[in-house]
Amino acid sequence: MFSLTTASAVVIAFCIAMTRAQVINLNCYGDLHMQVRNAPVGAELVGSTGCTFTLSRAVKIMKPLRIRNFRAQLRPGLGNTAAIVISSRGVQLIDFELIGNKHTVSFEDRESLLRINAGGFSIVSGAFVNSSRDGITVVPARSTRTAINAGSIRNIYGYGVERDVVAINSRHGLVTSKIYISGVEVYDSAQKGAVEVADGCQWIHVQDVFCERCFYVVSIQDHIPRWAEDDPESQMQANHHIRFYNIRGRDLMYGVISETSPIGHSDIIFSSLAFSDCRQAVYLRYLNSVSVRFLRIERPKTGSPLVLAEACNRVSLSNAVFRNSTHRGIAIATNDCTELYVGSVVLERDTQFWAGLRVEVAPSFIGIPVTAAYNRFDAARNGEIIQRFSG
Ligand SMILES: *[C@@H]1O[C@H](CO)[C@@H](O)[C@H](O)[C@H]1NC(C)=O
Ligand SMILES: *[C@@H]1O[C@H](CO)[C@@H](O)[C@H](O)[C@H]1NC(C)=O
Repeated sequence: MFSLTTASAVVIAFCIAMTRAQVINLNCYGDLHMQVRNAPVGAELVGSTGCTFTLSRAVKIMKPLRIRNFRAQLRPGLGNTAAIVISSRGVQLIDFELIGNKHTVSFEDRESLLRINAGGFSIVSGAFVNSSRDGITVVPARSTRTAINAGSIRNIYGYGVERDVVAINSRHGLVTSKIYISGVEVYDSAQKGAVEVADGCQWIHVQDVFCERCFYVVSIQDHIPRWAEDDPESQMQANHHIRFYNIRGRDLMYGVISETSPIGHSDIIFSSLAFSDCRQAVYLRYLNSVSVRFLRIERPKTGSPLVLAEACNRVSLSNAVFRNSTHRGIAIATNDCTELYVGSVVLERDTQFWAGLRVEVAPSFIGIPVTAAYNRFDAARNGEIIQRFSG
């Protein structure tokens, strides 16, 4: 028999389904923050093409919502204000554009366009233009004391962003982990670049990134002052299990850069890298268990080591091709690295390096095992391989 209980259960289930599916059209003439604040949990807010919200304060998202098809710009001169702050789990932003005001705010007042302080987010097809700071900053908030776990950022475009288009950070002893970033295309971030992973993140996967006219394409960082390198607290800023796949760029200072201290960063993989017109393609420092494979470098701007690893342990560099360079210089150099493997490196006929690989070991390192293996090192012209002891 069809009982009343079953009937109510069906009605309740239907209501929940309705609530979940609730779609609200955003009013272009209303305050975006208030519309977001008044929306029920789980609603989908949909903007309209041709509508741009001008924000005089941040839109704070404090419950799971989906917001889709919208465009918003920060009021000129409004400093210290993000366009959107996410402080609830389960927020989705889809098909949107955020425009910053970097030309009208002072250096001290810069702020990122999108601040994410909670996990479980999904940011899809977003453009970030002229931000005074980052495009997206993922960072745990001191006030909530909750770590950021899981989130995805896909199909992002950045233009004229002052700092990083995507910056992933841990903070306040709270570890940010399991963030998936795929598809980031960036132009003109002259001070920074496309993606930065910093201050103690774990299991971050970054793929399909392209950057043009940037300082770097991707960066791995911590912010430990020199005097605090030995503090146990500093170890919390070491990044672990970070993957970068298919990272490309042109007209750069660096392709990959490390802005790191000796605090035990580990398990870092860079695979499929292609950089042209850069000053240094890969700079690794204080990284343990680091591997760089399938690297292609063309038309470098200098002949200083195009790949440089300093004070790294368990380093593997393989399948690297260097093309079209008239600079006399060194293709790959390592200083004070242990357990080094270099293999399958090709210096093409149109390069002029005087050395393919230079390995330097500090006197203090003597006695610690250093292995350097070269299995197929084709040096077309003057591409010697040298190993020497510095000091
Ligand atoms: C961003 O800034 C550039 C100048 O640097 C300007 O030409 C462009 O119109 C700005 N874009 C937007 C969407 O405001
Ligand atoms: C090498 O680079 C120069 C510019 O530096 C460019 O004009 C030339 O076409 C490049 N050659 C090849 C084979 O890519």
